[in-house]
Amino acid sequence: MSHLFTPFKLKDITLRNRIAVPPMCQYSAVDGIPNEWHLAHYAELARGGAGLVVVEATGVSPDGRISPACTGLWNDEQAAVHAKIADSIKKADSIPGIQIAHAGMKASANKPWEGDNHIPAENPVAWETIAPSAIPFGTEALNRVPRAMTRDDIARVQNDFAAAAKRAFEAGYQWLELHFAHGYLAQSFFSRHTNQRDDEYGGSAENRGRYLLETMAAVRNVWPENLPFTMRFGVLEFDGHDEETLQEAIALSKKFNQNGLDFMSVSMGFTTPKTNIPWGPAFLAPYARRVRNEVGMPVGSAWGFDTPTLADASVRNGDLDLVFVGRGHLVNPHWAYKAALDLGIEKPEQMLPDQRKFWLNRYKVRNS
Ligand SMILES: Cc1cc2nc3c(=O)[nH]c(=O)nc-3n(C[C@H](O)[C@H](O)[C@H](O)COP(=O)(O)O)c2cc1C
Repeated sequence: MSHLFTPFKLKDITLRNRIAVPPMCQYSAVDGIPNEWHLAHYAELARGGAGLVVVEATGVSPDGRISPACTGLWNDEQAAVHAKIADSIKKADSIPGIQIAHAGMKASANKPWEGDNHIPAENPVAWETIAPSAIPFGTEALNRVPRAMTRDDIARVQNDFAAAAKRAFEAGYQWLELHFAHGYLAQSFFSRHTNQRDDEYGGSAENRGRYLLETMAAVRNVWPENLPFTMRFGVLEFDGHDEETLQEAIALSKKFNQNGLDFMSVSMGFTTPKTNIPWGPAFLAPYARRVRNEVGMPVGSAWGFDTPTLADASVRNGDLDLVFVGRGHLVNPHWAYKAALDLGIEKPEQMLPDQRKFWLNRYKVRNS
């Protein structure tokens, strides 16, 4: 039976265990170019034992970044540093992944620790935001009204996604995640809250899924068949319409799968602030399980799976194929190693680099 420390094979890639670091923005880049911070951060996460490290939401274009400090992948200078990040993850025997994104209505914001709000439009570093309809997210902090996208805008962003995916492959990433969640551009096309278009991209569930399917197809054309092609998607909002949204999301996910998607990181929509999210340990597990069973595609999920016994149980009981542990890895980049110790896995130090493995094998640690 699978458990947290069994390998996970998807296409030609085998993860050494079922522990993944989800994308987590570092808000530390300049002009979209990652730097020493990112190099040290991602290398350390990989050295801690996780099977997969997914690099943060990375803008496919300057206007697709959440903030001016987000990483990008629209030019060669950025790609050169991404190549170093991917290499450092591989050298630690982990698999390097990247999430590519367009932030849509939530773009052009200050860093979280500098306000977490839209940069005032008159500030020269701000930029015009775009979305399916001219509807803002609607909190006090994120209230900028985006411009409704034209068909040319849609085509441009889809081309940007394909170009970024190609660069991601050339940089050495082996796992691609489309950011179609969390109220960013793709999710806002899917959501009734933010998509009120009256053309073929709005209205029915089929129309609201069109932008996502088209973008996916553009990327599918350039991302190699033998490497995992994945997506993070919000399958419900906790807004009182959950069963309906879930059914639409599952129907669309079947199409994603039929059109070449290999794996889904199941998450929430975050297209409206008017929600009642039941935060708690593993609260998304039943929804991830539904996607897994009804679509017949492997899934992972984050949000509160960061207790080793819970993470292990989620794999054993068939809720998840992969467990994404975010903040747990910020607390301790060696989360995977520590989880193996806690779960009594034999020779847990095997997952660590030689520089650590050797010593921890020779001198057993007790209360680390
Ligand atoms: C600092 C930070 C940055 C994040 N950035 C992203 C991101 O770039 N893309 C994304 O899909 N989710 C992002 N998230 C959400 C995480 O991927 C994850 O879903 C969340 O931390 C919940 O998992 P956890 O309970 O294990 O921490 C971020 C979370 C944190 C804490």
